[in-house]
Amino acid sequence: MDHFLYKDGVLHAEDVPLPQIAAEVGTPFYVYSCATLTRHFHLFEEALTGLDHLVCYAMKANSNQAVIAHLAGLGAGMDVVSGGEYLRAKAAGVPGERIVFSGVGKTRDEMRMALTGGIRQFNVESEPELTALSEVASSLGLTAPITVRVNPDVDARTHEKIATGKSENKFGIPIARAPEVYAMAASLPGIEVIGIDVHIGSQLTDLEPFRLAYEKVRDLTLRLRTEGHDIRRLDLGGGLGIPYERSNTAPPLPTEYGALIREVVGDLGVEVEIEPGRLIAGNAGLLVASVLYVKEGEGRDFLILDAAMNDLIRPAMYGAWHDIVPVVEPAPGLEQRPYDIVGPVCESGDTFAKQRQMPTISPGNLVAFRSAGAYGAVMSSEYNTRPLIPEVLVKDDQMAVIRARPTFDEIINRDTVPAWV
Ligand code: LLP
Repeated sequence: MDHFLYKDGVLHAEDVPLPQIAAEVGTPFYVYSCATLTRHFHLFEEALTGLDHLVCYAMKANSNQAVIAHLAGLGAGMDVVSGGEYLRAKAAGVPGERIVFSGVGKTRDEMRMALTGGIRQFNVESEPELTALSEVASSLGLTAPITVRVNPDVDARTHEKIATGKSENKFGIPIARAPEVYAMAASLPGIEVIGIDVHIGSQLTDLEPFRLAYEKVRDLTLRLRTEGHDIRRLDLGGGLGIPYERSNTAPPLPTEYGALIREVVGDLGVEVEIEPGRLIAGNAGLLVASVLYVKEGEGRDFLILDAAMNDLIRPAMYGAWHDIVPVVEPAPGLEQRPYDIVGPVCESGDTFAKQRQMPTISPGNLVAFRSAGAYGAVMSSEYNTRPLIPEVLVKDDQMAVIRARPTFDEIINRDTVPAWV
């Protein structure tokens, strides 16, 4: 459920009509709903009630300062994957003890930053990383709390580019080798083993892969404890999918996911962490664009928008589906026709949807891409020197621009022309 509904025939973000935002900031833009962010965060909180737990929002999904400050205010921890995200979390007021540092290639500078600024734990992904972290922590006279991310060799049954739990993926340590890596970790100065981490992929629409992975983590917990390691925290990653296509069956709910966690690891006496990103932010955001032209092609009509692949790359990159709806509600029973919905960028890959059934649309009409709050703005670029588009946050009838569109001067002046050119 989200808070983008038609009221009096016009799509609103909470109580703000989208045409009003378009008039104020111009199109295209992203708009996020506080109420939806809150609701989705609470779904996970409720799903884990009774377990000692922390929901660490995976900031990579949407790291706008206002979004993370809102979630931090609800009590969310943060899962960060770079020094930049770490600094964003700190700037949003998140204390170090609620920040988890994930990622396969942490630099020594990033380790130093997190160790001195405060960190809940590092999720370590390789032996060389473990050695580097030990050296950095020791040189600072500090101790790094760690989990080791294990790779359980489980098929997440999702798009190959976002599956992370198979042995051929670059992530984690093969679970069979975990005992030796934990033994190594326990022997290193500046390292304190506290738990185990796993994350098998994103946009999972089935609980079975989670079950397989979590059962392996459970077995490993018991084994490592017999080997003397104090495994007291399990980071179970993120990955629960969202319904991108409303006409399809919906993925499992957070309550069902929470029940699975309780069932598989609930009796281990561990603190449970999860790292959801998409489910919190995805359906809390829309991308709103204007129709520039309707062009008749050979046997097809193209709807040319002012948004493009640089603003929302998911369709071009993963063949992802986003529901695209007119902002003015079509009259019931209005005839639909197929359009190829495209942007102005000079690549055929700049196609959002092919032969998508839509009510008749005219130039100047607004359309909204649903489920664009996660991996939308954060993955955008200024390809074709198209400015990054503004982000707007809505709460009830209030709206605020939370990132402004840069001017062309700002874009051009970011570059420097050496005197010898
Ligand atoms: N934890 C780790 C270690 C991750 O790598 C990720 C996502 C998450 C948590 C959050 O997963 P989520 O709950 O959002 O599924 N750009 C792609 C998605 C990439 C996901 C990368 N890792 C997309 O647009 O579909």
